Amino acid sequence: MRLIGTGSAIPEKVVTNAMLSEFLDTSDEWIVPRTGIRSRHVITDENVEDLGARACLNALDMAGLKPEDIDYFICSNVVNEYITPSLSCVIAEKIGLTCPCIDINCACPGFLYAMDIAETHFLAGKVKNVLIVSAEEPTRMTDWADRSTCVLFGDGAGAAVFTEGDNLKGIRLHSQPDSSKIWQKRTLMPTPYITKQEEDVPLQMRGKEVFKFAVGASTTEVEALLKEIGMSKSDVSYYMVHQANLRIIDAIKKYLDEPDEKFPVNIQDHGNSSSASCAILLDECNRKGMFKPGDILVFSAFGAGLLSAAAVLEW
Ligand code: COA
Repeated sequence: MRLIGTGSAIPEKVVTNAMLSEFLDTSDEWIVPRTGIRSRHVITDENVEDLGARACLNALDMAGLKPEDIDYFICSNVVNEYITPSLSCVIAEKIGLTCPCIDINCACPGFLYAMDIAETHFLAGKVKNVLIVSAEEPTRMTDWADRSTCVLFGDGAGAAVFTEGDNLKGIRLHSQPDSSKIWQKRTLMPTPYITKQEEDVPLQMRGKEVFKFAVGASTTEVEALLKEIGMSKSDVSYYMVHQANLRIIDAIKKYLDEPDEKFPVNIQDHGNSSSASCAILLDECNRKGMFKPGDILVFSAFGAGLLSAAAVLEW
């Protein structure tokens, strides 16, 4: 498949570290050196489906396609206000898509998992154009009295349109199932028969262990993928790494022994926007005109599951 359009949409409200320190025992001095985050966009009166719809329309516009040209629509999302219908259907209704719609919840690597599903449909000869959106509101998952999690996240949506082509050079998905490292639970509607205890628990995370998983999974998958497709690090133009923490990106950079210029970052302005992170970064870099034909983009993302993924896309 070949990428022909990108788009993104982010909430208006910008929350700086100084604003957080007004109600939390935290500071810019603590957050910046440990995470690289200076501010994040946070949903106020917006709906995540509207951000998703705007990102999709921007991507369709760049691709020069109409909603009726899309044969398959994949939405990557961890949480939103609808339990049913799927967020993909809610967004599809807003933008006038009539193709099959599916949601996936693959946490932060969701954009890459969606790319894998899209590629499978192209290889099966079932589609001509696929639209992917990652629309996320992780700020609605954390306890805003818990300084170890709420400072890390921001909201937003990123979208991409793919058409037939041969630009996805390889993709690898990896899982290491373990629900004790990052998790959140919510109660369901009661019934007269439920006897078990259920609880609402905000996002829980073992930060140090997640950090180690992220660096290990990313470097292992990137090196394995490049080897699998017969490329080397010198072929790589840019590493599009999930924007979870600047220290994670720095550790990956150091391990791969690659220069700063190959790692675009926007975490300072967005925080971790879950699966929207890679999609928003891609759109921002694309709209700045950073990529030229033939550039090799290596994507790497990791998160709850634990899941990780890497992909190589030729521009
Ligand atoms: N402001 C001030 N102090 C904070 C704080 C904050 N926002 N968050 C935590 N602290 C405090 C802790 O309470 C702890 O205090 P204590 O020593 O008195 O108990 C101290 O800082 C150290 O906490 P610790 O959790 O050991 O810090 P850390 O160096 O591991 O950094 C993370 C915490 C979350 C920044 C880091 O573990 C991390 O980035 N992990 C990866 C998380 C991630 O990216 N997850 C998503 C992946 S998709």
